[in-house]
Amino acid sequence: MDSKQEKINTLNEALKLSKLGGGQKRIDKQHANKKLTARERIEYLFDEGTFEEIGALVTHRTTDFGMENQVFYGDGVITGYGTIDNRLVYAYAQDFTVFGGSLSETHAEKICKIMDMAVKVGCPLIGLNDSGGARIQEGVRSLGGYADIFYRNVQASGVIPQISAIMGPCAGGAVYSPAMTDFTIMVENTSYMFVTGPNVVKTVTNEEVTSEELGGAQTHASKSGVAHKTSENDIACLEDVKKLLSYLPQNNTEKPKKIDIKIESEVRDVLSDIVPDNPNKPYNMHDVISGIIDDDSFYDIHKDYAESIIVGFARLGGRSIGIIANQPLAFAGVLGVNSSRKAARFTRFCDCFNIPLLVLVDVPGFLPGTDQEWNGIIVHGAKLLYALSEATVPRVTVITRKAYGGAYDVMNSKHIGADFNYAWPGAEIAVMGAKGASEIIFRKEIADADNPEEKLAEKEAEYAEKFANPYRAAKRGFIDEVILPKNTRRKLLKAFTILENKKVDSPKRKHGNIPL
Ligand code: HXC
Repeated sequence: MDSKQEKINTLNEALKLSKLGGGQKRIDKQHANKKLTARERIEYLFDEGTFEEIGALVTHRTTDFGMENQVFYGDGVITGYGTIDNRLVYAYAQDFTVFGGSLSETHAEKICKIMDMAVKVGCPLIGLNDSGGARIQEGVRSLGGYADIFYRNVQASGVIPQISAIMGPCAGGAVYSPAMTDFTIMVENTSYMFVTGPNVVKTVTNEEVTSEELGGAQTHASKSGVAHKTSENDIACLEDVKKLLSYLPQNNTEKPKKIDIKIESEVRDVLSDIVPDNPNKPYNMHDVISGIIDDDSFYDIHKDYAESIIVGFARLGGRSIGIIANQPLAFAGVLGVNSSRKAARFTRFCDCFNIPLLVLVDVPGFLPGTDQEWNGIIVHGAKLLYALSEATVPRVTVITRKAYGGAYDVMNSKHIGADFNYAWPGAEIAVMGAKGASEIIFRKEIADADNPEEKLAEKEAEYAEKFANPYRAAKRGFIDEVILPKNTRRKLLKAFTILENKKVDSPKRKHGNIPL
């Protein structure tokens, strides 16, 4: 048996193993750590036997460089449709074994054809990318093919969900199609994305960097934010794509499918002891999230990027919701350039696709410093403010502890259109922390005091007493209700049910001008 045959047998075995258990696909660690072929990926992604291929007989039309003697049916990409968990989905999978999965004019035409079909019938589009980029032998025709795809990515944006899996190389201008889709998931160690590769980097900047360092999955998941998720291997990646899809509707005219679950009293005592008495002590906001949502339903987006804010999908009473939450464990949950961008992008996705938003607030303010100011915290913070102000989906806020300064406004305050705003009894809502505030407004009094330190402590306590609570805001109606932590889930179940048919008519305009 030659090595190629051996590889095929191993992969077939992996596929077989992954489908054990009454038709349930499961991941077998030992076998799943192999790269699958394009066809195996398609087979794994779709419900068994449902995939219908389109354009299997298409071939390229190039006659330069002896290409007329190298013709392969399908031209390096499998395109078609099928069902995933019984929902219609279109997908393409680039085949690295044909000219390195490179994109020719016809390869691009095949992708464009299914993109157009997906938009016409209103269903998600999934791209499995594994390509050496533009087909070098075709020159500008392949560049044009890329642009045809980019154009369609934009036309489809906000109409149907678009998901990109990066399962091999994705370099040069090719990166811009995934970048314009809604989510990018990268396979660890076998995929990379960059505009210019290590060789060009070395020539231009004299930097020595490996492909993995420059554009591997971990780099994009933690440093650039290009990847929304990473997966251990091909099979895990396809599972991640399918799971993500389960939270999303087919298109922008539909709501995500609700799962039937039994609702009982829904009091969650576990929420009572999460926030420490000491306001400067951190806690894990994930504990609050899991105390509120349906069991094990959280799907993290951008887990390793801008960790001071958490975003992701979850289910509440079987409904799909998007969650945005400050994370006190990372930089005290402060808002910065990257965390603002991360939350703004997520907000806009949820708003496009009718996914209600829950915002959990524990934020000491915006991150100070030259790094933040010079990198444009003003404009990036404004993105989140803009995105939430613009969102018309049901929006509910719970302030678990701090809501200070401009960040109070930004984090889905009543003033920018939130529907229900709740606070836990220990919430602190003020312009700034008690110490900083006292130092400013009582400066003279403190300086003139016999014991300035004592005076400061006295003034600080006075300020905290007045403002470090949710009741002033509740008196003004900025907070609808102060609720006990343990009642949060039941309150939110009601709130989102009431808001189910929320409708907002926005003023007529071509489009707004979000501060990009
Ligand atoms: C034509 C290509 C190709 C390409 C790879 N192949 N890339 N054929 N056009 N872009 C072919 C190779 O000739 C080879 O054919 C086979 O695919 C496998 O490639 P290998 O190099 O043997 O594989 P590997 O060692 O794994 O390296 C993969 C790779 C490398 C790193 C992706 O192939 C590579 O650097 N390719 C060129 C990448 C590139 O510069 N692309 C253009 C980027 S610019 P045989 O017959 O030998 O098996 C771009 C602009 C887009 O994409 C702009 C859009 C706006």
